[in-house]
Amino acid sequence: MPISRRTLIVGGVAAGAAAAALPGTAASASGGPLRTDPFTLGVASGDPDHDGFVLWTRLAPRPLAEDGLGGMPDRPVAVQWELAADERFRHVVRRGVALARPQAAHSVHVELNGLPPGREFFYRFKADRHVSPVGRTRTAPAPWTLGGALAMAFVSCSQYEHGYFTAYRRLAEEEPDLVLHLGDYQYEYTKDTYNIPGGNPRDHEGPETETLANYRQRHAQYKADADLQAAHAAAPWLVVWDDHEVDNNWADEVPENPDVPQPHFLARRAAAFQAYWENMPLRRTSIPRGIDMRLYRRIQWGRLATFHMLDTRQYRDDQGCGDGYKDCPAAYDPARSITGPEQEAWLLDGFRRSSARWDILGQQVFFAQRDNNAGPATVTSQDSWDGYAASRDRITRGWLAAGVRNPVVLTGDVHAHWASDLKLDYADPTSRTVGSELVCSSITSGGNGADSDPATHPFLAINPHLRFYNNQRGYVSTKIRADRLDADFKVVPQVTTPGAPVYTRASYTIEDRVPGLHQTYLRPLG
Ligand SMILES: [Fe+2]
Repeated sequence: MPISRRTLIVGGVAAGAAAAALPGTAASASGGPLRTDPFTLGVASGDPDHDGFVLWTRLAPRPLAEDGLGGMPDRPVAVQWELAADERFRHVVRRGVALARPQAAHSVHVELNGLPPGREFFYRFKADRHVSPVGRTRTAPAPWTLGGALAMAFVSCSQYEHGYFTAYRRLAEEEPDLVLHLGDYQYEYTKDTYNIPGGNPRDHEGPETETLANYRQRHAQYKADADLQAAHAAAPWLVVWDDHEVDNNWADEVPENPDVPQPHFLARRAAAFQAYWENMPLRRTSIPRGIDMRLYRRIQWGRLATFHMLDTRQYRDDQGCGDGYKDCPAAYDPARSITGPEQEAWLLDGFRRSSARWDILGQQVFFAQRDNNAGPATVTSQDSWDGYAASRDRITRGWLAAGVRNPVVLTGDVHAHWASDLKLDYADPTSRTVGSELVCSSITSGGNGADSDPATHPFLAINPHLRFYNNQRGYVSTKIRADRLDADFKVVPQVTTPGAPVYTRASYTIEDRVPGLHQTYLRPLG
């Protein structure tokens, strides 16, 4: 295991103080000490590379405070952090102090580097006499190595009101190496506006989120959930948003429904971005600038996998014919894009430079075609890549031209599990398979759902590249190795009451250099 000189020095310094708890010196920059526990929102880590990651927390003794400031005093507060090789903090390898500022809702983002690759670490924070829960994180393998098998799980669509976050809890219990959240981490609605059959078991606090105070309060309500905290504390996350972190089906500078004008939409977008940055374990490169925030980025997991994390919201052209399922000529217009030209060039360049065994696109909306019309018309969802078919075609041809070894698209958004082969030409049934798409169901959005025979969904007959469907809540667990990627579609049978068990509904394998999915397990129905 290569150990850098810097790590040795830090390790040496830390050794002398290894058994000591976090020192309790002068935590508050001014004013009295914090009387009540400010660590109500848990801890998180994210964006690992081979020598570091981001550690995150946010101080909020009263997470539901309407002003979004979590009950914190209007002054900076010093927060100590500690990184250790063991869960009991006997072998501390780094420690330091970060300032939680009111301008950033007293969030803390500690960006570390110089750590050894392929290692597990534990971290915690302290403010005054209060100590945070402990989080577990890890560095990626060294850039030149394949490393061991990677346990990666991905999730999307966690509507707090629609159920308990049991799926997050079950995911945490698996202790994966890495978690991807593909969007709809939170929802903008006020209570009683987005209801499941039988009524929502929980309610949002506050109005529909429009101001910075609203978004901060909403993030805090979500982060106060113990199951979500467990999932963050279990592994580093790679997060990207979809629409509900801002406004349903927004597109660049256009809100959900142009018929319902939002004169302040750009201010709303900026507020949503600011709160998203404050509440997520993101690097400095994602700090918002005005109405913009750079969220698309690449994360390298040794030579095993490259994660191309996409933002299909911020730069997209508006939906060509509005939202919903349409037969829309504009969807095929090569002048329209779901990524925007800069992100597209960045992605295609990433394909050309990649020497990874697996190139994984972590992104929001359905990539494969899903035609809901059994006749000659092609009727597709205009909010997904189907609404930007020329854009999809450029990306698909881009990975083919670059000779990408194993392209795999990961998707959320649709509140159901799906698996699909990816085609060069969806209009041609003989078109070859050029990749695979795995789509995770929601954590809660849509409520309990129901099990069904996965072969009976009408889309599967019309779109033979679609391979699997399940409308229950859950997540997807993958194991990525040099020679194959195994994916388990995990479901929890209900979310409207807490404590459901989890089971695998179906498993698929993708073999190295063989585009497309092989079913390896299907649980009998009922
Ligand atoms: Fe959603």
